[in-house]
Amino acid sequence: MFFRLMYHIVLPIYVVFVIFSSITLERSQNDFFIILLGILFITSIYLERIYPRYFIYIATIEIVSLLLFHFTTQLNWCFTIYIILLSKFLFQIRGVIKGVLLGFFLIGFYTVIRISYTPVDSYSVLAVGSDFLTSLAVVLIIQYIIETEREKNVLKEEKKLEELRYNEDKMKLLGEMAAGLAHEIRNPLTIIQGFLQHAKEDHYNIQPWYDLILSEVCRMNKLTFEFLQFSKPDVSLYQTHSIHECLERVISLTESKALSSGHQIVFTDYDPNLFIRMYFDKMVQVFVNLINNAIQAMVESGNITIRLLKVENKAVVEVSDMGVGIEEADLKNIFNPFYTTKSDGTGLGLPICQKIIQDHGGAIEVTSILKQGTTFTIRFPLNSVDPH
Ligand SMILES: Nc1ncnc2c1ncn2[C@@H]1O[C@H](COP(=O)(O)OP(=O)(O)O)[C@@H](O)[C@H]1O
Ligand SMILES: [Mg+2]
Repeated sequence: MFFRLMYHIVLPIYVVFVIFSSITLERSQNDFFIILLGILFITSIYLERIYPRYFIYIATIEIVSLLLFHFTTQLNWCFTIYIILLSKFLFQIRGVIKGVLLGFFLIGFYTVIRISYTPVDSYSVLAVGSDFLTSLAVVLIIQYIIETEREKNVLKEEKKLEELRYNEDKMKLLGEMAAGLAHEIRNPLTIIQGFLQHAKEDHYNIQPWYDLILSEVCRMNKLTFEFLQFSKPDVSLYQTHSIHECLERVISLTESKALSSGHQIVFTDYDPNLFIRMYFDKMVQVFVNLINNAIQAMVESGNITIRLLKVENKAVVEVSDMGVGIEEADLKNIFNPFYTTKSDGTGLGLPICQKIIQDHGGAIEVTSILKQGTTFTIRFPLNSVDPH
């Protein structure tokens, strides 16, 4: 936009101004030639845009017509036209060395032509130095602009690429999740379809299978219900709560189930002054999921220990059990959607926990020793504002 404004509007106006000045000041050698050369120069600038393929030829016409124009006008003001032309070439040819050489080449010609109509005295000799230095400054400024522009473009490209990669990852994950869910739902559906078809076509009595069919329907219901938990809650639902209060709620919800399975929930090291911004219900769900897994992992009676501590400006919650443990090779799978080792499992509990924890800016880690137990460690950034 500014490029075109400069070369297609300002430059022609300046050329017309020089023609007018040269004729008015009676410096012109030949009025007709001046106008003709001015038109040739401006036309070549426009032609270059239309025929970029012939750049070299058109650029030669531009330089030659400018030199002749300068010679005919006999005005030093043509220097500005040389500088504008030089700046245009600098954007087109790139490179400092080439730019400096071109600048010196153009200013060299300018000097020769200027000497042809001005007497050589100390003033004009010093003016030559000034002209060369000006061209050098122009080359460096334009080079700086080109460099900054290039860096900006590289950054923009990198950002675009990153966004693209992120979107690709997201789509891949979405595809995997959708395929997983479809696969999980298809199995019970096929079973139910088989029973119904059998009953319809062969008048087969499926009454003894009602419980199985119902349990398969329940499983699908559970799967879709849990799958929905993946959605990110509205930001407005986040409020500052004490984690201690959240864990107390979790314990009150899970204690009876643990006791009826012969286990004890032990809450130690609690710090009631750790606050984080959380979606309370989702956070409760995270720990209920972990405790349910712990209960299911313990064949014999044992303790489920919950610790809450502050480590380096983070709230840390540990949920440990004395269960069967997880094999080293399986540790990397447990956060994958639909990975389960249980006959009635959905494999969505831990991925959902991880998603909720990440939505809260936290992270979850696991360590496990076979036949001794498993510990899940969750870290959250603390909210510095104490609401009370
Ligand atoms: N506390 C634990 N002890 C042993 N294994 C566990 C524990 N928690 C999770 N796991 C393993 O991780 C798998 C995935 O857990 P999860 O995502 O909650 O799905 P699900 O409970 O439906 O199987 C479980 O099937 C189990 O093999
Ligand atoms: Mg589970």
